[in-house]
Amino acid sequence: MNSKNIHRRTFLDWLLGAGLVVWAIGFVAPVVAYLWPAQRRGPGAQAVSAGKQQDFAEWQTKIIALNGQPVIVIRTPQGFRAFSAICTHLGCIVTWDAARHLVACPCHAGLFDLNGRVVGGPPPRPLMEYGVAVVNNEVMIKSA
Ligand code: FES
Repeated sequence: MNSKNIHRRTFLDWLLGAGLVVWAIGFVAPVVAYLWPAQRRGPGAQAVSAGKQQDFAEWQTKIIALNGQPVIVIRTPQGFRAFSAICTHLGCIVTWDAARHLVACPCHAGLFDLNGRVVGGPPPRPLMEYGVAVVNNEVMIKSA
């Protein structure tokens, strides 16, 4: 074996090693990103605006995102309420039943009252409630 073959072989070994490292990073990084909880990647929002108070008519609702989770905001005659919009049965996104003034799940007819309590259907638990504060006319929803 001459020195030219040794250099070629060393270079090919290095190239193979570098290729394996790149492949390993490309394979492992998405798995780690998927498994790493989102909360640990950075600070989540502590509060988010649902809009101006006057943008909500009485009994009007809106679904907003807070830390990537859907939240249903309801303006009642007594003020604003906000609940997780994820049904506690199998995770469907709830809607507002304006005729009955109830939060309704379209998947299996789950029903929740204005306190988030289950009043019909299969959901096993109430909806998680979020804090609401009106600050400078802005309806702010606070993370739980
Ligand atoms: S997912 Fe809501 S009632 Fe089943």
